[in-house]
Amino acid sequence: MNLSVVILAAGKGTRMKSSLPKVLHPVAHKPMVQHVIDASKALNSDNITMVYGHGGDQLKEALASNNVNWALQAEQKGTGHAVKVADEFMPDDHTILILYGDVPLIQTETLERLLAVKPEKGIALLTVKLDNPTGYGRIVRDETNKVVGIVEQKDAVPEQLLINEVNTGIMAVNGDLLKGWLANLSSDNAQGEYYLTDVIAMANEAGYTINTAHPESGIEVEGANNRVQLATLEREYQRRATEQLMLAGASMRDPARVDVRGDVTVGHDVSLDVNIVFEGTVILGDNVTVGPNCVLKDCVIENGATIEANSLVDDAKVGTNAQIGPFARLRPGAIVGNKAKVGNFVEMKKSTLGEGSKANHFSYLGDATIGAGVNIGAGVITANYDGVNKFKTDIKDNAFIGTNSTLVAPITIEENGFVAAGSTVTKNIDKDGLAIARGKQRNIEGWKRPVKG
Ligand code: UD1
Ligand code: CA
Repeated sequence: MNLSVVILAAGKGTRMKSSLPKVLHPVAHKPMVQHVIDASKALNSDNITMVYGHGGDQLKEALASNNVNWALQAEQKGTGHAVKVADEFMPDDHTILILYGDVPLIQTETLERLLAVKPEKGIALLTVKLDNPTGYGRIVRDETNKVVGIVEQKDAVPEQLLINEVNTGIMAVNGDLLKGWLANLSSDNAQGEYYLTDVIAMANEAGYTINTAHPESGIEVEGANNRVQLATLEREYQRRATEQLMLAGASMRDPARVDVRGDVTVGHDVSLDVNIVFEGTVILGDNVTVGPNCVLKDCVIENGATIEANSLVDDAKVGTNAQIGPFARLRPGAIVGNKAKVGNFVEMKKSTLGEGSKANHFSYLGDATIGAGVNIGAGVITANYDGVNKFKTDIKDNAFIGTNSTLVAPITIEENGFVAAGSTVTKNIDKDGLAIARGKQRNIEGWKRPVKG
């Protein structure tokens, strides 16, 4: 059967104390609602509808990369009313899956289990047993254990409050049936709202089957109403994400001090120290070691490479058995070759460092192509910018750039070229050539140091 997803996100989110709509608050650097959209996409849904009330412009901008329908619920009259405003996006012959924009940890596998128990005609309801069910709608079952209704906390009689199986709010139901039931909702209840949950009793009375499925744990279906709850969800997300990396072959000194804010793939025997942040798409090969306090963003680190303490890698590639840091900064477009070394306080941008080449201390390498076996001495700077334009530096294989030299681009240093320490190089250097470009030393005889007057 075809699947249409409706995501409720019209709540104001007052308790976030924020100008950002609640569902845009991030878990792992991604808006909560984007996690829900991604889970929906993974189900191959035919269409996704966002029911929104507040911050429409902000929502549409933040979620622009998604192909979703927008349904405005101008006034929040309850969850039943919210689903109803998505009416035109709920085809009769589709299964309608209802999700919540502020419940970001929901797993695709759980939703698959839910859809698997949906009767041909009827409802599949996601429920969970909680030690403390306070605040949730309770699942009412009859003596044969059949679900017959949901009663909200505020409408429940004392014995119903003892029920610990609660409504997660997530359900799957036939489009035609759902629309019929929504049309008949009343707001005659303790909160004066149109409750989506009332469709359960309607379905039961009409003789339709209501099956239930369950998440792995309660936290998977928890929403975030304030920043404390948001932080709890973030921790749970990270617990799961780091667990997956460990199961895939990465050792962690302390999984609570590794944060995964994107998609990370690891090989075998990866070793991760503490305070590491991954962002974007990161791929670590086999035997990669990352030291403490590193940020790795959108990068590929190949087999056996080492990233030492306090290094930043952003949109870069590090070759096999290369060594980065401590205190190195690889900026976008940095490509470090196999067995190459980038040491402390070296910054690389849009530059390639060839196989086995070394820039061990205090350098800026920008817009430079550096061959294999090159030695970049301490303090070497590529002067790539004249204040308006950027220029390229080309250093061929086996060149030697003496310490504290400035290479004024555009410039080419041919194979095996040699720059004497402290040079400011403005002219190309030939193959095997030597350039010395510095003030000549004079030693002044008989010079006296100044004395205090
Ligand atoms: C709802 C359920 C309850 C369930 C609980 C799980 C109903 C009547 N009750 O209760 O059984 O245990 O969720 O958390 O459905 N929303 C709108 N428009 C509205 C009202 C709500 O978009 O007019 C959205 C909210 O943004 C939120 C979600 O629906 O994402 C749930 O709304 P909320 O008011 O939190 O429902 P609860 O009272 O907690
Ligand atoms: Ca709620």
